[in-house]
Amino acid sequence: MTQNILVLPGDGIGQEIIGEALKVLRTLKADYGLDVEMEEALVGGTAYDEKGSPLPDDTLALAKDADAVLLGAVGGHKWESLPIAVRPEKGLLGLRSELGLFANLRPAILYPQLADASTLKPEIVSGLDIMIVRELTGGIYFGQPRGVRELENGEREGFNTLVYKESEVERIAKVAFDIARKRNNRVCSVDKANVLECTELWRDVVTQTHSSFSDVQLSHMYVDNAAMQLVRAPKQFDVIVTTNMFGDILSDCAAMLTGSIGMLPSASLNETGQGMYEPIHGSAPDIAGQNKANPLATILSVSMMLRYTLNEPDMAEHIDRSVSAVLDDGLRTEDIYSDGMQKVSTIEMGDAVVAKLKELNN
Ligand code: IPM
Ligand code: MG
Repeated sequence: MTQNILVLPGDGIGQEIIGEALKVLRTLKADYGLDVEMEEALVGGTAYDEKGSPLPDDTLALAKDADAVLLGAVGGHKWESLPIAVRPEKGLLGLRSELGLFANLRPAILYPQLADASTLKPEIVSGLDIMIVRELTGGIYFGQPRGVRELENGEREGFNTLVYKESEVERIAKVAFDIARKRNNRVCSVDKANVLECTELWRDVVTQTHSSFSDVQLSHMYVDNAAMQLVRAPKQFDVIVTTNMFGDILSDCAAMLTGSIGMLPSASLNETGQGMYEPIHGSAPDIAGQNKANPLATILSVSMMLRYTLNEPDMAEHIDRSVSAVLDDGLRTEDIYSDGMQKVSTIEMGDAVVAKLKELNN
């Protein structure tokens, strides 16, 4: 049965990196028999400019109907002074919450070819393979009440609410335990249970949920320590499960261990397996339109889509091998460039991956 992919390039480098991912999808359609249809729509600042909303109704309707969404990036300086309610980021947050994409999988894998690109010593990061499971539709990102109010003395006060229901913690913990079973069987739950009641409950529910997964090893860590351990000895981690905001922060940190945030894909899944796939880097307005951005995180997001939603693990494997092969050949976009390598543009990198895909198919 034909599956539908909604493609949302978004802002900044989004258009360019999505262009390369589309080449990969088209190659899989033409040469590997992938049975998908792609449709494009607007999201983020670009959507705001054209339609007055970062998440127009027709985009949301298409996303709900699609089997999978492929997103580039949202945001940029141009929209920074808009009210929060219509900022490009609201487009992304709206998609996450409207589609119920509560489970955000952010793998941080160091390609051996890029060991030199990390700012950490090679022996600290070589062989790194962490999966961060970030809760994505709750916590302080969505908690009510929120806002800025004026106090009696005229001073303004900003406030947000960190809130988690037991059921929200339980379902994300289950995802983490399930994933750990397919990996190295270890989960570290990250919280701030020494200070925040909400995450004390988090720890409690993760521990309870663990009773049905007693074959998996569970540990708990405070978020400040986790940040330190990630740069001190990152290989101690297998799966990390954490709240929306802690996951946002720790996943950027973990990304840099791998040399460049330009390499890391992500999947956001709901209860039915429908998913949104996006690189974890942002819209990088400083290099937008210059054919410099690294398209590999987006191409690897297509690979995750093939694995988690489209049920084509072999094709995913082919993408992963093609990416590895272009790195073996010494091709590097600027963000992962090091001496002696061959610097390539966004388009050249995409073309090289496509060429490998075709080669692997012969
Ligand atoms: C991410 C991003 C988003 C987030 C922004 C763009 C809203 O940083 O996906 O990590 O904070 O979740
Ligand atoms: Mg982030």
